[in-house]
Amino acid sequence: MNNKIYHDPQNMAKVKDKIVVFVGGTDGMGRIAFEDLANSGAEIFLLGRTPNKTKKVIHEVTQKTGNKRIHHVVCDLSLKESVRHAANEVAKSCSHIDYLINCAGANIFEHIITSEGHELSWATNHLGPFLLTNLLLDHLKKAPKARIVNLSSAMQGLGRIDFDIIEKNKPTSSANRYGMAKLSMIMCTQELAKELEGTNVTINALNPGFINTNLMRRAKGLMMIPQIWSRLFASPPRVGAERILTLVTSNEYEGVSGKFIYEDYIREPNKQALDLDLVRRVYSVSRKQVGIA
Ligand SMILES: NC(=O)c1ccc[n+]([C@@H]2O[C@H](COP(=O)([O-])OP(=O)(O)OC[C@H]3O[C@@H](n4cnc5c(N)ncnc54)[C@H](OP(=O)(O)O)[C@@H]3O)[C@@H](O)[C@H]2O)c1
Repeated sequence: MNNKIYHDPQNMAKVKDKIVVFVGGTDGMGRIAFEDLANSGAEIFLLGRTPNKTKKVIHEVTQKTGNKRIHHVVCDLSLKESVRHAANEVAKSCSHIDYLINCAGANIFEHIITSEGHELSWATNHLGPFLLTNLLLDHLKKAPKARIVNLSSAMQGLGRIDFDIIEKNKPTSSANRYGMAKLSMIMCTQELAKELEGTNVTINALNPGFINTNLMRRAKGLMMIPQIWSRLFASPPRVGAERILTLVTSNEYEGVSGKFIYEDYIREPNKQALDLDLVRRVYSVSRKQVGIA
Protein backbone atom coordinates (compact mmCIF):
# COMPACT_ATOMS: atom_id res chain seq x y z
CA MET A 1 0.00 0.00 0.00
CA ASN A 2 1.84 3.09 -1.21
CA ASN A 3 -0.97 5.62 -1.13
CA LYS A 4 -1.07 7.97 1.79
CA ILE A 5 -3.99 7.17 4.08
CA TYR A 6 -5.70 10.27 5.46
CA HIS A 7 -7.90 10.46 8.50
CA ASP A 8 -11.52 10.63 7.44
CA PRO A 9 -13.62 12.10 10.27
CA GLN A 10 -16.69 10.34 8.81
CA ASN A 11 -15.12 7.02 9.81
CA MET A 12 -15.56 8.03 13.45
CA ALA A 13 -19.26 7.14 13.15
CA LYS A 14 -18.11 3.49 13.15
CA VAL A 15 -16.87 3.67 16.71
CA LYS A 16 -20.29 4.41 18.21
CA ASP A 17 -21.05 1.70 20.80
CA LYS A 18 -17.73 -0.05 20.15
CA ILE A 19 -15.83 -1.19 23.23
CA VAL A 20 -12.36 0.30 23.42
CA VAL A 21 -9.47 -0.38 25.80
CA PHE A 22 -7.18 2.65 25.73
CA VAL A 23 -3.82 2.87 27.49
CA GLY A 24 -1.99 6.20 27.38
CA GLY A 25 -5.06 8.42 26.95
CA THR A 26 -4.18 10.75 29.81
CA ASP A 27 -1.62 12.87 27.95
CA GLY A 28 -0.12 13.79 24.59
CA MET A 29 -1.61 12.47 21.38
CA GLY A 30 -3.47 9.70 23.24
CA ARG A 31 -5.45 12.29 25.22
CA ILE A 32 -6.84 13.71 21.95
CA ALA A 33 -7.56 10.31 20.36
CA PHE A 34 -9.30 9.20 23.57
CA GLU A 35 -11.52 12.30 23.60
CA ASP A 36 -12.42 11.85 19.92
CA LEU A 37 -13.43 8.24 20.58
CA ALA A 38 -15.51 9.32 23.59
CA ASN A 39 -17.12 12.05 21.52
CA SER A 40 -18.11 9.48 18.91
CA GLY A 41 -19.96 7.37 21.45
CA ALA A 42 -17.54 4.52 22.17
CA GLU A 43 -17.55 2.76 25.53
CA ILE A 44 -14.00 3.16 26.84
CA PHE A 45 -11.88 1.53 29.50
CA LEU A 46 -9.16 4.10 30.16
CA LEU A 47 -6.14 2.47 31.76
CA GLY A 48 -3.95 4.96 33.62
CA ARG A 49 -1.10 4.69 36.09
CA THR A 50 -1.93 7.81 38.10
CA PRO A 51 -5.46 7.53 39.59
CA ASN A 52 -5.96 11.27 40.23
CA LYS A 53 -4.79 12.30 36.77
CA THR A 54 -6.81 9.56 35.04
CA LYS A 55 -9.97 10.45 36.99
CA LYS A 56 -9.49 14.15 36.18
CA VAL A 57 -9.14 13.41 32.45
CA ILE A 58 -12.24 11.19 32.52
CA HIS A 59 -14.18 13.91 34.35
CA GLU A 60 -13.16 16.55 31.77
CA VAL A 61 -14.00 14.31 28.82
CA THR A 62 -17.32 13.20 30.30
CA GLN A 63 -18.28 16.84 30.89
CA LYS A 64 -17.28 17.83 27.38
CA THR A 65 -18.71 14.89 25.41
CA GLY A 66 -21.61 13.75 27.59
CA ASN A 67 -20.30 10.18 27.28
CA LYS A 68 -20.93 8.43 30.60
CA ARG A 69 -19.56 5.06 29.53
CA ILE A 70 -15.93 5.76 30.34
CA HIS A 71 -14.42 3.50 32.97
CA HIS A 72 -11.29 4.10 34.97
CA VAL A 73 -8.92 1.17 35.42
CA VAL A 74 -5.67 1.59 37.33
CA CYS A 75 -2.72 0.20 35.37
CA ASP A 76 1.00 0.78 35.64
CA LEU A 77 2.30 -0.82 32.46
CA SER A 78 5.78 -1.19 33.89
CA LEU A 79 4.55 -3.78 36.42
CA LYS A 80 3.17 -7.13 35.29
CA GLU A 81 1.12 -7.51 38.46
CA SER A 82 -0.64 -4.21 37.75
CA VAL A 83 -1.22 -5.17 34.09
CA ARG A 84 -2.70 -8.54 35.12
CA HIS A 85 -4.98 -6.84 37.63
CA ALA A 86 -6.14 -4.27 35.04
CA ALA A 87 -6.76 -6.94 32.37
CA ASN A 88 -8.83 -8.87 34.88
CA GLU A 89 -10.88 -5.78 35.73
CA VAL A 90 -11.58 -5.10 32.06
CA ALA A 91 -12.33 -8.73 31.18
CA LYS A 92 -14.92 -9.14 33.91
CA SER A 93 -16.64 -5.85 32.96
CA CYS A 94 -17.33 -6.41 29.26
CA SER A 95 -18.40 -9.15 26.87
CA HIS A 96 -15.84 -8.37 24.16
CA ILE A 97 -13.34 -5.72 23.02
CA ASP A 98 -13.44 -4.09 19.58
CA TYR A 99 -10.29 -1.98 19.78
CA LEU A 100 -7.20 -2.18 21.98
CA ILE A 101 -5.03 0.92 21.70
CA ASN A 102 -1.59 0.53 23.31
CA CYS A 103 -0.62 4.20 23.19
CA ALA A 104 1.27 4.50 26.49
CA GLY A 105 5.01 4.88 26.31
CA ALA A 106 7.82 6.67 28.08
CA ASN A 107 11.28 7.97 27.35
CA ILE A 108 13.24 6.95 30.43
CA PHE A 109 16.72 8.40 30.73
CA GLU A 110 18.02 6.57 33.82
CA HIS A 111 18.84 2.86 34.03
CA ILE A 112 16.21 1.73 36.54
CA ILE A 113 15.24 -1.85 37.43
CA THR A 114 11.62 -2.44 38.46
CA SER A 115 10.64 -4.35 41.61
CA GLU A 116 9.86 -7.25 39.25
CA GLY A 117 13.42 -7.27 37.90
CA HIS A 118 13.05 -5.71 34.43
CA GLU A 119 14.66 -2.55 33.09
CA LEU A 120 12.00 0.19 33.29
CA SER A 121 11.98 1.28 29.62
CA TRP A 122 11.77 -2.34 28.43
CA ALA A 123 8.99 -3.06 30.94
CA THR A 124 6.95 0.05 30.06
CA ASN A 125 7.43 0.24 26.30
CA HIS A 126 7.35 -3.44 25.43
CA LEU A 127 6.57 -6.00 28.15
CA GLY A 128 3.54 -4.17 29.57
CA PRO A 129 1.66 -3.69 26.28
CA PHE A 130 2.70 -7.20 25.17
CA LEU A 131 1.27 -8.77 28.33
CA LEU A 132 -1.90 -6.68 28.23
CA THR A 133 -2.52 -7.66 24.60
CA ASN A 134 -2.08 -11.35 25.35
CA LEU A 135 -4.37 -11.20 28.37
CA LEU A 136 -7.14 -9.49 26.37
CA LEU A 137 -6.91 -11.65 23.25
CA ASP A 138 -9.86 -13.88 24.17
CA HIS A 139 -12.07 -10.82 24.55
CA LEU A 140 -10.81 -9.34 21.27
CA LYS A 141 -11.63 -12.61 19.49
CA LYS A 142 -15.22 -12.29 20.69
CA ALA A 143 -15.75 -9.00 18.78
CA PRO A 144 -17.14 -9.17 15.24
CA LYS A 145 -13.95 -7.45 14.03
CA ALA A 146 -11.21 -6.30 16.37
CA ARG A 147 -8.16 -4.14 15.84
CA ILE A 148 -5.07 -3.75 18.02
CA VAL A 149 -2.95 -0.64 17.54
CA ASN A 150 0.54 -0.62 19.08
CA LEU A 151 2.38 2.70 19.28
CA SER A 152 5.94 2.05 18.18
CA SER A 153 8.38 4.74 17.04
CA ALA A 154 10.84 5.79 14.35
CA MET A 155 13.42 5.11 17.08
CA GLN A 156 12.89 1.39 16.36
CA GLY A 157 15.37 2.04 13.55
CA LEU A 158 18.12 2.74 16.12
CA GLY A 159 17.38 -0.26 18.35
CA ARG A 160 19.94 -3.10 18.43
CA ILE A 161 18.57 -6.34 19.88
CA ASP A 162 20.92 -7.63 22.56
CA PHE A 163 19.75 -10.44 24.83
CA ASP A 164 22.23 -9.44 27.55
CA ILE A 165 20.33 -6.17 27.79
CA ILE A 166 16.91 -7.81 27.58
CA GLU A 167 17.53 -10.73 29.92
CA LYS A 168 20.38 -9.55 32.14
CA ASN A 169 19.65 -5.79 32.26
CA LYS A 170 23.09 -4.92 30.87
CA PRO A 171 23.32 -1.10 30.81
CA THR A 172 23.10 0.69 27.47
CA SER A 173 22.08 4.16 26.25
CA SER A 174 18.54 5.35 26.90
CA ALA A 175 18.07 5.74 23.12
CA ASN A 176 18.99 2.09 22.56
CA ARG A 177 16.75 0.93 25.42
CA TYR A 178 13.78 2.84 23.96
CA GLY A 179 14.60 1.85 20.35
CA MET A 180 15.02 -1.81 21.28
CA ALA A 181 11.71 -1.89 23.14
CA LYS A 182 9.89 -0.24 20.22
CA LEU A 183 11.59 -2.63 17.74
CA SER A 184 10.65 -5.65 19.89
CA MET A 185 7.08 -4.35 19.93
CA ILE A 186 7.09 -4.50 16.11
CA MET A 187 8.62 -7.99 16.11
CA CYS A 188 5.97 -9.28 18.52
CA THR A 189 3.25 -7.52 16.50
CA GLN A 190 4.42 -9.52 13.47
CA GLU A 191 4.43 -12.82 15.40
CA LEU A 192 1.06 -12.21 17.04
CA ALA A 193 -0.41 -11.32 13.63
CA LYS A 194 0.68 -14.76 12.36
CA GLU A 195 -0.98 -16.45 15.33
CA LEU A 196 -4.13 -14.41 14.73
CA GLU A 197 -4.38 -15.31 11.05
CA GLY A 198 -7.86 -16.64 10.29
CA THR A 199 -9.40 -14.85 13.29
CA ASN A 200 -11.30 -11.54 13.34
CA VAL A 201 -8.41 -9.73 15.05
CA THR A 202 -5.77 -7.62 13.31
CA ILE A 203 -2.73 -6.07 14.95
CA ASN A 204 -0.37 -3.39 13.63
CA ALA A 205 2.40 -1.14 14.91
CA LEU A 206 2.42 2.59 14.22
CA ASN A 207 5.09 5.26 14.21
CA PRO A 208 2.85 8.32 14.73
CA GLY A 209 5.52 10.77 13.55
CA PHE A 210 7.54 13.43 15.32
CA ILE A 211 4.93 14.88 17.64
CA ASN A 212 5.13 17.69 20.16
CA THR A 213 4.03 16.00 23.41
CA ASN A 214 5.30 15.47 26.94
CA LEU A 215 7.29 12.37 26.00
CA MET A 216 10.66 14.02 26.65
CA ARG A 217 9.50 15.68 29.88
CA ARG A 218 12.26 14.11 32.01
CA ALA A 219 15.10 15.02 29.65
CA LYS A 220 18.23 16.46 31.26
CA GLY A 221 21.56 17.75 29.92
CA LEU A 222 22.19 16.93 26.25
CA MET A 223 18.85 15.13 25.98
CA MET A 224 17.21 18.57 26.33
CA ILE A 225 18.30 19.30 22.74
CA PRO A 226 15.75 16.88 21.13
CA GLN A 227 13.17 18.20 23.60
CA ILE A 228 13.74 21.81 22.47
CA TRP A 229 13.86 20.60 18.85
CA SER A 230 10.50 18.90 19.41
CA ARG A 231 8.94 22.06 20.85
CA LEU A 232 10.09 23.98 17.76
CA PHE A 233 9.62 21.57 14.88
CA ALA A 234 7.37 18.63 15.80
CA SER A 235 3.79 18.29 14.59
CA PRO A 236 0.95 19.08 17.00
CA PRO A 237 -0.49 16.17 19.01
CA ARG A 238 -3.64 16.11 16.85
CA VAL A 239 -1.55 14.81 13.93
CA GLY A 240 -0.47 11.77 15.98
CA ALA A 241 -4.01 11.30 17.31
CA GLU A 242 -5.45 11.26 13.81
CA ARG A 243 -2.91 8.65 12.70
CA ILE A 244 -4.01 6.44 15.58
CA LEU A 245 -7.68 6.95 14.73
CA THR A 246 -7.03 6.22 11.06
CA LEU A 247 -5.50 2.87 11.95
CA VAL A 248 -8.51 2.13 14.16
CA THR A 249 -11.27 3.16 11.74
CA SER A 250 -10.10 3.31 8.14
CA ASN A 251 -11.42 0.85 5.53
CA GLU A 252 -7.96 0.82 3.94
CA TYR A 253 -6.61 -1.03 6.98
CA GLU A 254 -9.40 -3.63 6.94
CA GLY A 255 -7.71 -7.04 7.11
CA VAL A 256 -4.21 -5.50 7.23
CA SER A 257 -2.20 -7.17 9.99
CA GLY A 258 1.37 -7.56 11.22
CA LYS A 259 2.50 -4.34 9.53
CA PHE A 260 4.61 -1.36 10.55
CA ILE A 261 2.85 1.85 9.59
CA TYR A 262 5.24 4.78 9.36
CA GLU A 263 3.01 7.82 9.77
CA ASP A 264 0.62 7.31 6.81
CA TYR A 265 2.28 4.49 4.86
CA ILE A 266 3.08 0.82 5.38
CA ARG A 267 6.86 0.56 5.53
CA GLU A 268 9.47 -2.11 6.22
CA PRO A 269 10.82 -1.82 9.75
CA ASN A 270 14.43 -2.16 10.93
CA LYS A 271 16.15 -5.04 9.11
CA GLN A 272 16.37 -7.02 12.36
CA ALA A 273 12.58 -7.39 12.21
CA LEU A 274 13.02 -9.25 8.90
CA ASP A 275 15.34 -11.85 10.51
CA LEU A 276 12.75 -14.48 11.40
CA ASP A 277 14.99 -16.43 13.80
CA LEU A 278 15.75 -13.25 15.74
CA VAL A 279 12.07 -12.27 15.73
CA ARG A 280 11.06 -15.70 17.09
CA ARG A 281 13.68 -15.47 19.82
CA VAL A 282 12.51 -12.00 20.91
CA TYR A 283 8.92 -13.28 20.89
CA SER A 284 9.81 -16.35 22.91
CA VAL A 285 11.86 -14.37 25.49
CA SER A 286 9.04 -11.81 25.79
CA ARG A 287 6.51 -14.60 26.42
CA LYS A 288 8.78 -16.14 29.02
CA GLN A 289 9.34 -12.80 30.76
CA VAL A 290 5.61 -12.08 31.06
CA GLY A 291 4.91 -15.64 32.15
CA ILE A 292 2.88 -16.87 29.19
CA ALA A 293 3.31 -20.58 28.60
N1 LIG B 1 5.85 12.12 20.64
C1 LIG B 1 6.48 11.54 19.65
O1 LIG B 1 7.16 12.21 18.82
C2 LIG B 1 6.41 10.05 19.49
C3 LIG B 1 7.08 9.48 18.39
C4 LIG B 1 7.01 8.12 18.21
C5 LIG B 1 6.29 7.34 19.09
N2 LIG B 1 5.67 7.90 20.17
C6 LIG B 1 4.90 7.00 21.06
O2 LIG B 1 3.56 7.47 21.10
C7 LIG B 1 2.93 7.10 22.32
C8 LIG B 1 2.26 8.31 22.96
O3 LIG B 1 3.28 9.18 23.42
P1 LIG B 1 3.16 10.76 23.57
O4 LIG B 1 4.17 11.33 22.68
O5 LIG B 1 1.74 11.19 23.45
O6 LIG B 1 3.72 10.91 25.05
P2 LIG B 1 3.15 11.52 26.41
O7 LIG B 1 2.53 12.85 26.18
O8 LIG B 1 4.29 11.43 27.35
O9 LIG B 1 2.00 10.46 26.84
C9 LIG B 1 2.37 9.18 27.24
C10 LIG B 1 1.20 8.44 27.82
O10 LIG B 1 1.67 7.16 28.29
C11 LIG B 1 1.28 7.00 29.66
N3 LIG B 1 2.26 6.17 30.39
C12 LIG B 1 3.59 6.33 30.48
N4 LIG B 1 4.12 5.39 31.28
C13 LIG B 1 3.10 4.61 31.70
C14 LIG B 1 3.00 3.48 32.55
N5 LIG B 1 4.08 2.96 33.17
N6 LIG B 1 1.79 2.93 32.76
C15 LIG B 1 0.69 3.45 32.18
N7 LIG B 1 0.71 4.52 31.36
C16 LIG B 1 1.90 5.10 31.13
C17 LIG B 1 1.26 8.42 30.20
O11 LIG B 1 0.54 8.45 31.41
P3 LIG B 1 0.65 9.70 32.44
O12 LIG B 1 -0.37 10.69 31.97
O13 LIG B 1 0.33 9.08 33.76
O14 LIG B 1 2.05 10.24 32.35
C18 LIG B 1 0.58 9.14 29.04
O15 LIG B 1 -0.80 8.93 29.05
C19 LIG B 1 4.06 6.49 23.17
O16 LIG B 1 4.00 5.09 23.07
C20 LIG B 1 5.33 6.99 22.51
O17 LIG B 1 6.41 6.15 22.75
C21 LIG B 1 5.71 9.24 20.38
